[in-house]
Amino acid sequence: MPKVVYIEHDGTEHTVDVALGLSIMEGARSNNVPGIDADCGGACACATCHVHVLADWMAAVGLPSAEEAEMLDFVNNRDESSRLSCQIKMSDALRGLTLQLPESQR
Ligand code: FES
Repeated sequence: MPKVVYIEHDGTEHTVDVALGLSIMEGARSNNVPGIDADCGGACACATCHVHVLADWMAAVGLPSAEEAEMLDFVNNRDESSRLSCQIKMSDALRGLTLQLPESQR
């Protein structure tokens, strides 16, 4: 199964299996990765699944939709690497995807 690496704000790394087709948020939740609350269950309506995509992965992950970009206005420390992890689907192109979790989601 493809791996995703989630790095907490303190540097703790979680390398977990995420099935193709699952969202990156679902991968974190099903593997008990802390820091992704996902209060809305993946409906792009809460912004508690914010992640920063490492620079090497930004092209593969792509840009947020207009709806997602609007929700990102509600997160702390938004920057060009910000995405909502419920809106990223695991795919072959994302094997090894590495993400940083924001300090505000501990
Ligand atoms: Fe609510 Fe991603 S889980 S916006």
